[in-house]
Amino acid sequence: MEKNIVLIKGDGIGPEIIEQAVLVLDRIGEKHSHKFNYTDVLMGGISIDTHGVPLTDEALETAKKSDAVLLGAVGGPKWEDLPGHLRPEAGLLAIRKGLGLFANVRPAVLYPQLKDACPIREDIIADGFDIIIMRELTGGLYFGERNIETVDGVRRAYDTCVYDENEIRRIAVSAFEIAMKRTKKLTNVDKANVLDTSRLWREVVHEVAKDYPEVEVIDMLVDNAAMQLVRNPGQFDVMVMENMFGDILSDEASMITGSIGMLSSASLGDTKFGLYEPSHGSAPDIANQDKANPLATIISTAMMLRYSFDMEQEAQDIENAIDKVLTEGYRTVDIMSDGCTLVSCSEMGRRIVENI
Ligand code: IPM
Ligand code: MG
Repeated sequence: MEKNIVLIKGDGIGPEIIEQAVLVLDRIGEKHSHKFNYTDVLMGGISIDTHGVPLTDEALETAKKSDAVLLGAVGGPKWEDLPGHLRPEAGLLAIRKGLGLFANVRPAVLYPQLKDACPIREDIIADGFDIIIMRELTGGLYFGERNIETVDGVRRAYDTCVYDENEIRRIAVSAFEIAMKRTKKLTNVDKANVLDTSRLWREVVHEVAKDYPEVEVIDMLVDNAAMQLVRNPGQFDVMVMENMFGDILSDEASMITGSIGMLSSASLGDTKFGLYEPSHGSAPDIANQDKANPLATIISTAMMLRYSFDMEQEAQDIENAIDKVLTEGYRTVDIMSDGCTLVSCSEMGRRIVENI
């Protein structure tokens, strides 16, 4: 097969981790006779420096025409004082919206080899956990009407949260579809005791549930869900929620794995097309030092092969290689523990490639 992939290296450690992911992809291509073509597109701080905006229309068009996008990370202190719409993060929001990627899949998996890095008490995580957070990505507070204004001499600001039933239904369908492929347990997270958007959300999720009678649906208020994630993460499988709740709980879920450097994500829409990126940020403090953990990006690459290209075996080849390298005790600094061997970003990448 031949696939066209847009690479958005971005800022900070972005270029280093994407470089390793591309080496892995090339090895997969060689082994399974696929041709991967790459096109670089600028986004984030580097686009601000080059074009004055975090994402140009042309960059978005190039991404639209590709089969999938692989993204490193964007942002850094250099661009923090710019107005909101010109910050690197605005590029990220614009590409999500512009590509119609409403379903953000964020797995939070406890790797048995990395149990020591988990900040949760050992008895609580004895059986491990494997959670998928499905975050709505193109609606809610992130895209609602907003303003900072002065009324009668008093400054005030507002952000509005709006969801229509179609936006809720499509993310709910995606969540049920994923739940059907796993343990058929779906936790619906909302704040229906207070918010109208959450009341509609819950109603629509239960309408969709009628089409998936095999899936057990549990409603959970978001504050309780935040608590349950540290109290007993093993109770969760797939969790679905609106944009802002998903932003917050996915960071929490990644932290309890102890290894945010391992967590991948996929942003999907109505088609096979997707945008794949690590869940971590651009880590400007360790940029250009060959210290970053490339595994989250490499795992995201495996997700791209599985979800966008239907290359299941190829995805498993990558996952098996990662498993092997971790079992052999190789660690980048963020996941290092006693008795393991410290490796650089590029050496980690090379070891994965060698095991494919
Ligand atoms: C994330 C990030 C982004 C978000 C920021 C960088 C805009 O926190 O992907 O979770 O809030 O969605
Ligand atoms: Mg976030």
